[in-house]
Amino acid sequence: MSSPEAPSYREAHARSLSDPESFWSEAAAGLAWTRRWSRVLDDSQAPFYRWFPGATLNTCYNALDRHVEAGRGEQTALIYDSAMLDRVRSYSYLELQREVAVTAGALRALGVESGDRVLIYMPMVPEALMTMLACARLGAIHSVVFGGFASKELATRIDDATPKVLVLASCGLEPGRTVEYKPLVDGALQVCRHQPERCVVLQREAAEAPLQGGRDIDWREFRAAAKPVSCVEVGATDPVYILYTSGTTGVPKGVVRDTGGHAVALHWSLQKVYGMRPGDVFWAASDIGWVVGHSYIVYAPLLLGCTTVLYEGKPVGTPDSGAFWRVVCEHKVNALFTAPTAIRAIKREDPGAERVADFDLSSLRTLFLAGERADPDTVRWAEKALGIPVIDHWWQTETGWPMAANCMGIEVLPVKRGSPTVAVPGFDVRVVDDEGQELARTDSSESEGGHIVVKLPLPPGSLPTLWNNDEGYKSSYLECFPGYYQTADAGRIDTDGYLWIMSRTDDVINVAGHRLSTGGLEEILSEHADVAECAVVGVHDALKGQTPLGLVVLNAGAERVERELVEELVADVRETLGPVAAFKRVCVVRRLPKTRSGKILRRTLRAIADGEEYVTPATIDDPLILEEIGEALRARGQAT
Ligand code: COA
Ligand code: AMP
Repeated sequence: MSSPEAPSYREAHARSLSDPESFWSEAAAGLAWTRRWSRVLDDSQAPFYRWFPGATLNTCYNALDRHVEAGRGEQTALIYDSAMLDRVRSYSYLELQREVAVTAGALRALGVESGDRVLIYMPMVPEALMTMLACARLGAIHSVVFGGFASKELATRIDDATPKVLVLASCGLEPGRTVEYKPLVDGALQVCRHQPERCVVLQREAAEAPLQGGRDIDWREFRAAAKPVSCVEVGATDPVYILYTSGTTGVPKGVVRDTGGHAVALHWSLQKVYGMRPGDVFWAASDIGWVVGHSYIVYAPLLLGCTTVLYEGKPVGTPDSGAFWRVVCEHKVNALFTAPTAIRAIKREDPGAERVADFDLSSLRTLFLAGERADPDTVRWAEKALGIPVIDHWWQTETGWPMAANCMGIEVLPVKRGSPTVAVPGFDVRVVDDEGQELARTDSSESEGGHIVVKLPLPPGSLPTLWNNDEGYKSSYLECFPGYYQTADAGRIDTDGYLWIMSRTDDVINVAGHRLSTGGLEEILSEHADVAECAVVGVHDALKGQTPLGLVVLNAGAERVERELVEELVADVRETLGPVAAFKRVCVVRRLPKTRSGKILRRTLRAIADGEEYVTPATIDDPLILEEIGEALRARGQAT
């Protein structure tokens, strides 16, 4: 609970909006700057805003060197816990600083300088985190690509980010199989317009990769002769990284994060939202390929001087449903952050939470959930199993840190299960109708809600633009509701100010906390020679929240055994986008339901697949097709 002197949530939120400059300059005082800002917020180019213009700092200095210089070099910075290898390795701040300084020296020896891009395609290994921090040390911009993405996704990102160097591991370890990364990179480079000058390969024992002379270099050789380098002064408004995320189309958006705002927001939010203090152990059980991994595995814990846990494994099956509790117990984790799907997976295997009793979890103060809606059943189960607050919170790759939460470091508000609580200081969250008129707050769960938007400017740490694409930034996020950032989520705010997130308003689906574009999946299916037309919708899944369902119409004359075609399409998606799409369900249909103007009725398709009631839209061009599709899905066990 908040101390008597601490500002209440309401005061803190109000002040962050009425006087953002003093609010964020106070937060910025917790970091080391090499030059102070000329002003806190530059709004002269609105709707493009810049935080801390004129200032310089180095993110890696703030994450490592600063703590070493303050005499905390012996404190553990990083615990690498691999359930896949049954191995634990810890690094003190001093050790991590040395590793990162050498890696930065090695990158510089390959010609990487301030502003150059480095693409990282690595699983959950310490070298991935070291490479990210080494880039920040040099002022180079990293772009991490999630290991579950395959060649085409990789290729699109390489062509957009145009990296000078690509750093990869030879393989990732998934339960029951080794995922070889090198063939995926080689495949991507074969179709890329842009070619990185060098590829650095971290060889892992499970599958060493053959190296291509001249271009590829072994990680050990890369670092062997390197000299450690010190931190470079970086402009607060210069990018620290680019992270690609799915939008409506198959072309991912390159979310840019600026150096100063990012460091300030993460340093502040780990204390105020997550209630952490220097020296605490924070574990975000996510992947460095996602924004959660960037913000709360790598940057925030180190910026605040905490210990971070890098876990290579799954919530279940590595070896069992006690995996998370083992890690919490062994490393005395103070706060765990994961996706609801991970808790659902544990709950499915251990409904009575019996494995919890096998471990001493007394260090654990809070469980945070995000990435998808936290259903009340899952929240209730976790509360009962762990006996600690379970905090749902809501954010996106674009914002980089939570927009709504129960701020554990400000004032703990009553939990309403199913709601991520209230807008976090810095975010002026509103709900508007299609015309941009603000909707009244309502307690009715029957309410259809509206578009959730955030009044500009967004606080520090949120995306200032898209990589090389100011126009795309405006058209994707700012044009629909002038003066506001469009989150593409729909929902309502209740009379206590609590937010209720209902669904996406675009064609993005959320599979096990992974954000995917149905448009991207449709592009892959359409490329099949026998497919005339297709639609992909996200349907309810008890474990993953949603999974994609493909409906395909065959070309005239294409006579195919459905089972074989389905296998081909599933394989196409695995090879092009990656296994993480969990694309397994396809149904061949006579035609797609459309309005007379040709728009596919996706919402109705989703309702049919989910076994929900639906109203046949008056504008439909073929009223019989909906029933026909429902029957086809039920016959194949693909509708609830
Ligand atoms: N590299 C290569 N392949 C990967 C991968 C990676 N980094 N991550 C996942 N995959 C593959 C998996 O091996 C699996 O392949 P398969 O179809 O051959 O089995 C596929 O992608 C789907 O993986 P996953 O999403 O992990 O599903 P799962 O059914 O294996 O496990 C859960 C289910 C719930 C245990 C798992 O989804 C999970 O841990 N979710 C938490 C997600 C999360 O942390 N999200 C981050 C947002 S905060
Ligand atoms: P990503 O950019 O991958 O983090 O995905 C962001 C999207 O995930 C959001 O726009 C929401 O649709 C969804 N999301 C994230 N957190 C929550 C939450 N706590 N409740 C509901 N939806 C969420």
